[in-house]
Amino acid sequence: MRILAIETSCDETAMSLLEANLTEVKPRGTGDLTSVKFNLLAHDVASQVTVHKEWGGVVPMLAKREHIINLPIMLEKLFPNSFSPNPEPNTYQLAPDLITVTCGPGLEPALWEGINFAKKLAAKWNISIVATDHMHGHIVSAMLKLNSKLKNNKSKIEYELQTLEFPAIALLISGGHTQLVLMQSMNNFEIVGNTRDDAVGEAFDKVARILGLPYPGGPEISKLASQFKPNNLETKQPKTYILPRPMLHSGDLDFSFSGLKTAVLYLVKRIKEENKREELTQEEKIEIAYEFEQAVTEVLIKKTAAAIQMCAAKSLLVGGGVIANKTISNRLRDWISKSRDLISLYLPDQKFTGDNATMIGVAGYLHSKGGTVNTLAPGSHLFDKLKANGNLCLYK
Ligand code: KG4
Ligand code: ZN
Repeated sequence: MRILAIETSCDETAMSLLEANLTEVKPRGTGDLTSVKFNLLAHDVASQVTVHKEWGGVVPMLAKREHIINLPIMLEKLFPNSFSPNPEPNTYQLAPDLITVTCGPGLEPALWEGINFAKKLAAKWNISIVATDHMHGHIVSAMLKLNSKLKNNKSKIEYELQTLEFPAIALLISGGHTQLVLMQSMNNFEIVGNTRDDAVGEAFDKVARILGLPYPGGPEISKLASQFKPNNLETKQPKTYILPRPMLHSGDLDFSFSGLKTAVLYLVKRIKEENKREELTQEEKIEIAYEFEQAVTEVLIKKTAAAIQMCAAKSLLVGGGVIANKTISNRLRDWISKSRDLISLYLPDQKFTGDNATMIGVAGYLHSKGGTVNTLAPGSHLFDKLKANGNLCLYK
């Protein structure tokens, strides 16, 4: 089955074309597929960072405008002249069998562009749509394993969906979410931990702004933090500044990052006042970035460890843009390797950490094959009713 996947939930326009090869399915309704491989035929992501940078964050109407520009260009590369009355034969010849499109969560003006585009294509090709949850995409992105036997075969990029042992915990860390999700099976999600205020990626972006770094702040903070040379190589303790580890002992699985950001703001203010200057030195910025990253990492790991214990989880998946952070991913690997519980850790390939359409293709496909969601056929009542839901919460 060939799947065209479309993702426009925020500031990346993404389109992928995948071929799913399913060899074994468990009984309908369990949501568990035992063996499925995805041949990645095409994969495109247009980042809008340069557009939003000058505003210091994502501007929804600009994101919408960029999606309107990017979507037809991406489609044209995959299916040239597909909107002309007599489309020419092209690279992929036939229309796909299914379209998966992100319907939430995200910025509604941006989501609508992907949804309306998907509907137009589905009607033209007379194929069904699967409305897909962006966060489900981030979950499955961690399960895709590149078939390294095909490493030298430039014409075939194949990913295998790794099977999980359940219960599993998914830690989702992105610009809009910080969640711990308990999965009893592939399509059974229960949110057991959530942020009470800012998402972790949002905190990275806001702290970057306080330090005078450009948007998006996450990669900038991690670049700065990596330059820090701790005095004490054993403990890696920062030299001067200590930031709080919010909610570390709250006794539940929730997070809060807004206070951490405010602590950075007051610290920066204090340094400037004490030294009677308007700017931080580069050394001060490096040390604050480092300490901030340490605080975030410690909280994420402690809360995830508590979730694993509480739910007797056997697998841990991590998804979302923030897992591109090397300190966080290395510390997670290190902790799991030393843990006495036998937990399998699943982290996404670097190219699937941020927003992409491949994960939407895989998630939508699994959701429809698992028998837990309807595919929407053009002309049907549900197809007409399909809409963007900025607050969608794992399909609820
Ligand atoms: O998943 P994502 O691409 O979009 C959303 O669904 O939100 O995540 C974007 C977030 C941004 O806040 C960005 O600053 C953060 O991921 N991010 C990072 C890094 N790379 C991206 N945060 C920390 N370290 C990074 N290396
Ligand atoms: Zn995302």
